Amino acid sequence: MVEPLDLGVFPTPLEDAPRLAAALGLDRLWIKRDDLIGLGGGGNKARKLRYTCAEALAAGAELLVTTGAPQSNHARATAATAARLGLACVLVLTGHAPQDPAAPQSPAAPQSPAGNLLLDRLAGAEIVWAGERPADEVAAEEAARHAGSFLIPFGGSSPTSVAAYAECARELEAQAQFDRVVVAVGSGATMAGLVAELGAARVLGFDTGASPDPEAAVRALLTSNPGELAIDQGQIGAGYDTVTEPVRAALRLAARTEGLFLDPIYTGRAMAGLAATPGAGRRVVFLHSGGLPGLFGVDQPL
Ligand SMILES: Cc1ncc(COP(=O)(O)O)c(C=O)c1O
Repeated sequence: MVEPLDLGVFPTPLEDAPRLAAALGLDRLWIKRDDLIGLGGGGNKARKLRYTCAEALAAGAELLVTTGAPQSNHARATAATAARLGLACVLVLTGHAPQDPAAPQSPAAPQSPAGNLLLDRLAGAEIVWAGERPADEVAAEEAARHAGSFLIPFGGSSPTSVAAYAECARELEAQAQFDRVVVAVGSGATMAGLVAELGAARVLGFDTGASPDPEAAVRALLTSNPGELAIDQGQIGAGYDTVTEPVRAALRLAARTEGLFLDPIYTGRAMAGLAATPGAGRRVVFLHSGGLPGLFGVDQPL
């Protein structure tokens, strides 16, 4: 197992959120501020990249290649971390470039050149649009085309990055006595790492629609059978890149009770799910896994 790179600020703070706890009917609510990791714009992807990039550097990488949606937090964190390490970066993003006339129009979440995509470009990443092809196929070709490239899987989830969230769980155990952690689930390593350390019964995941089978994704990343996983699928709405009405309400609630800004795809769904789950636990930790730039990639009222 690699030693993580000494980048970012750890442990991340655990903050009390009494007004939000009262609004949600919880005895106690803490926010684990992984959005404040001082690397790559923060978030769970930055915590994972400390581990994944240690592996890349040990392999002699000069270029990081990865994939994501146009507003991918993982892609943005990879672009910024590559810059920090003096590595080149190729991001293979799904679909077409914004303003490309071939792009299918999605009224729910029109692609915007703002948000994470703006930051990807600012950090100097080369962006390749996968168009109608699967992004992982295009990424494998890009990696094969460049000497010294290191391919980071979708969402930055690999056995190496599971260790990053086992580390987060150990931080939490030292910070508070809690019943359950609430987390958004995409490619799975965040939940897998928390489950590996805390046990499945203490982790409540909310599916974001990013993976076809999130439970299989989490299980595949674990080395032993965790027992029954709690992954609630009630917040997907019409799909991954849609912003649902419960998510809008959750974004407003967090902002208006605690001045806490959540993102519209991941943490907004997890907060909407927590609000809709009265039996989530009495003392709850909510993992703020970042994603704030994604708010600025949404061109519709929140
Ligand atoms: C802000 C944010 N939270 C949570 C997740 C989900 O994490 P994981 O992919 O490890 O399941 C992501 C993944 O993209 C994310 O960007």
